[in-house]
Amino acid sequence: MKLRNFYLASAMAASALGLAVPAHAADVKQVQVLHWWTSGGEAAALATLKSYLAKEGYAWKDVPIAGGGGAAAMTTLKAMVAAGNPPTASQILGYYALDYAKAGKLNDLNVLATKEHWDKVIPKALQKFTTTNGKWDAIPINIHSVNWLWINKAVMDKIGGTEPKNFDEFIALLDKAKKAGVIPLALGGQPWQEGTMFDSVVMSTGGPAFYKKAFVDLDPTALKSATMKKAFDNLAKLRAYVDPNYAGRDWNLATAMVIKGDALVQVMGDWAKGEFTVAHKVAGKDFLCYRFPGTEGTVIYNTDMFAMFQVPADLRGAQLALADAVMSPAVQSAFNVIKGSVPARMDVPDTAFDMCGKKGIADVKKADAAGTFVGSMTQNYAQPPAIATAYTDVVTKFFHGEIKTSDAAVAELSKAIDAAK
Ligand code: GAL
Repeated sequence: MKLRNFYLASAMAASALGLAVPAHAADVKQVQVLHWWTSGGEAAALATLKSYLAKEGYAWKDVPIAGGGGAAAMTTLKAMVAAGNPPTASQILGYYALDYAKAGKLNDLNVLATKEHWDKVIPKALQKFTTTNGKWDAIPINIHSVNWLWINKAVMDKIGGTEPKNFDEFIALLDKAKKAGVIPLALGGQPWQEGTMFDSVVMSTGGPAFYKKAFVDLDPTALKSATMKKAFDNLAKLRAYVDPNYAGRDWNLATAMVIKGDALVQVMGDWAKGEFTVAHKVAGKDFLCYRFPGTEGTVIYNTDMFAMFQVPADLRGAQLALADAVMSPAVQSAFNVIKGSVPARMDVPDTAFDMCGKKGIADVKKADAAGTFVGSMTQNYAQPPAIATAYTDVVTKFFHGEIKTSDAAVAELSKAIDAAK
């Protein structure tokens, strides 16, 4: 039997038995990847991985699910897995990966991990999410961090602004922009964006020990403390600086406001830098990157991983090729130079990165050594999804005025977290 006929015949037989197998030979040299990288910067970064794999002879079947922060993508993934039709791999964050691992849905990658010594090059903090019972089942392509300010330099020069070193100086800077008739703060009023900003506000207000107590340990005293109330007070202050059309805006449209000079600053994870990069804007010349005021020395991380799902045996080769590509120093450099994040591998040189990327790489190493490398609550790296969602719900209700006072917000936050536990 000719090879193609053989595959057709086996596919027909298998489908009669209700088994999922590739329909023809080409499919076994293909990876199907689910992700939410649909903005300009995100897509350009992903193209580096696609072309690396293409050179290795693997085709890429794209499953893009738009929606920053990935909530919509996670819903699609859940449905695909429930239908017994998981992708080869899916972009995934933190505790989501642990859930699929616990449910026995992920493949063991130790054959590569051991050979390539992944445990030596990936920060230990991340290995909690990439391994289960000593088995690698998810692979990190980057380390993003959320505690950044992205500033239009021409606007900054026009208003005579300087780097704000603490929250009060940040407010003073936003006031300057307001007086100059520029939108001070570009924000997309979606729960995950407001939550991402609040992660930084909490770190700035309480410092890393408080952040860990409240968000990693869920210490009830910290959650109900005067410091948490102060963090909500600080968040409320930021409301005065957004434009009237902020509700529902996508994060990359908020970034575009800063790129164009319509707004001074966006508080956002460093995926925002990817948008500046694809708009050919240069760090230090066209835009500035500062740590969120009062959070220098800390990194609130979220790492994009690919969870590797259980696939039919003949797709295993393609899956391992994908894992090998993601973990290659070449891809980790090329992808992250565009994405705005930094390599998850600590041994990738910073040579190809701009000043923000170089700072990002140095910051991760310093924070990891100092114990100030902490997971983002919003992005599912401090707590599982149910708790993270309870948190962003309260934050967004507070920001949009549905929860009226900081006292009420603190009470609601504790209540919502308890209910989600
Ligand atoms: C994050 C993700 C980033 C970025 C962002 C906006 O959750 O980790 O890679 O894509 O969402 O979509």
